[in-house]
Amino acid sequence: MSGIKNRKKINKYLLKKLQEIQFDLTNHCNVNCPMCYMSYHRFKEQGFFQFDLFKKIIDEVVDEKYFATMIKLYWIGEPLLHPEFNMFVDYIFKKKLLHDFFKHTMVSTNGFALDRTLAQNILNTVKTGVDNGLPEDTFLVVLFSVDAITPETYRLVKPGAELNNIMENIKTFLSIRESLGLNYPVITLQFVIQEHNHSEVGAFVDYWKRFFRKIGKPLEVHYSWWHNNEHDHIAIMPCTAHSDFSKQNQLYKLYLDAIAPYTEAENHDPFGDYSNRFRDCWDLDLDKQEKDGCEYDSDDNRQPCSSVFKAPNIKHNGEIALCCRQALSEENNVGNLNKNTLTEIWTGEKMHNVRLEQINGIFNYGCDECITQEQWGFMTDSEIIEFLRLNGEENLINKFVDRKQF
Ligand SMILES: C[S@@+](CC[C@H](N)C(=O)[O-])C[C@H]1O[C@@H](n2cnc3c(N)ncnc32)[C@H](O)[C@@H]1O
Ligand code: SF4
Repeated sequence: MSGIKNRKKINKYLLKKLQEIQFDLTNHCNVNCPMCYMSYHRFKEQGFFQFDLFKKIIDEVVDEKYFATMIKLYWIGEPLLHPEFNMFVDYIFKKKLLHDFFKHTMVSTNGFALDRTLAQNILNTVKTGVDNGLPEDTFLVVLFSVDAITPETYRLVKPGAELNNIMENIKTFLSIRESLGLNYPVITLQFVIQEHNHSEVGAFVDYWKRFFRKIGKPLEVHYSWWHNNEHDHIAIMPCTAHSDFSKQNQLYKLYLDAIAPYTEAENHDPFGDYSNRFRDCWDLDLDKQEKDGCEYDSDDNRQPCSSVFKAPNIKHNGEIALCCRQALSEENNVGNLNKNTLTEIWTGEKMHNVRLEQINGIFNYGCDECITQEQWGFMTDSEIIEFLRLNGEENLINKFVDRKQF
């Protein structure tokens, strides 16, 4: 594999327009959701993101004038267990007042630790930022992973937590937001369809619709990763079975059944929100899936994933993973931010080689089975060609064009 030939131009290409930077504030969790890899994986090492390291990374992004559309303050574990969570928000808000280096931030949480005090602290930070001139939607979304509407089901999908706690926390969060006169962060009430909960999605939607009517606020219902974030909303989501294709098909059938009443009512095509890859992987053809696995692997026409070009995923210990799929892998990291800068790692040899592999149609590291690529989107042909041209790799452009058989 060839290396970076034109670092300056490539730096500019890769870091000036990042889709997102994802920080795993901790790989600890206080709940054991059966759907989640966190519940069965034993990490060699667990910990919390060091605030000083976070500052160092953000300072580099600001000083180098990089830009990220989204800064995600969660990934693998439960981010609100971090005792300094609000300091991370406060830091990026204060820095954004000096230099516009990101558009939005967001967090996904089981909501258990988001009590009145923490909610008040986070929302005070948001209010101060907005009062000082930041756009209202800077802290765009707090996503609550709820997944149930009855205490019995909740105990099955979130063992170790109680439904009334999270319901209380959600309502408190909304009332503090209201009292501060804020429209953002909007909240997502997420419901991931699983064996234990699929039958109560209707009751979930009805309950929350009634509640929002009572408080005089709109509540939308969405079915995919792609939704607008102008209002609070419910997101009914499919469950990922992590490479178990036969289970995946069963779960996906449950998902299609669960969303049918809403999609029919609104003439909504669930596949319209997903890429072809999603449809091809989860095509409900059980025999074919068991025989072939994911149909899409090593496809000649498969496009490189935006994730490896535009979205650094940073673990709590400063390791950058080569993509979001490497949450559990201790190996597939490309460098540690305690030792090197973001620029050095993200434009370094290891990431470059991963990108070139994908440009050449080689999808290693579990990418051949990945069904979440639609979250990131695909690199376009012109983006790839520009990337290779900037690095002086004209020979690879021809190879790429041949592979794609334009
Ligand atoms: C790993 S969790 C970490 C953040 C936080 N603990 C939470 O629960 O929101 C990140 C997101 O992954 C979702 N998730 C976990 N396992 C999943 C699965 N098998 N399929 C779909 N989504 C899943 C959670 O609902 C959550 O929104
Ligand atoms: S709360 Fe979040 S991180 Fe914890 S087990 Fe559930 S989905 Fe996974």
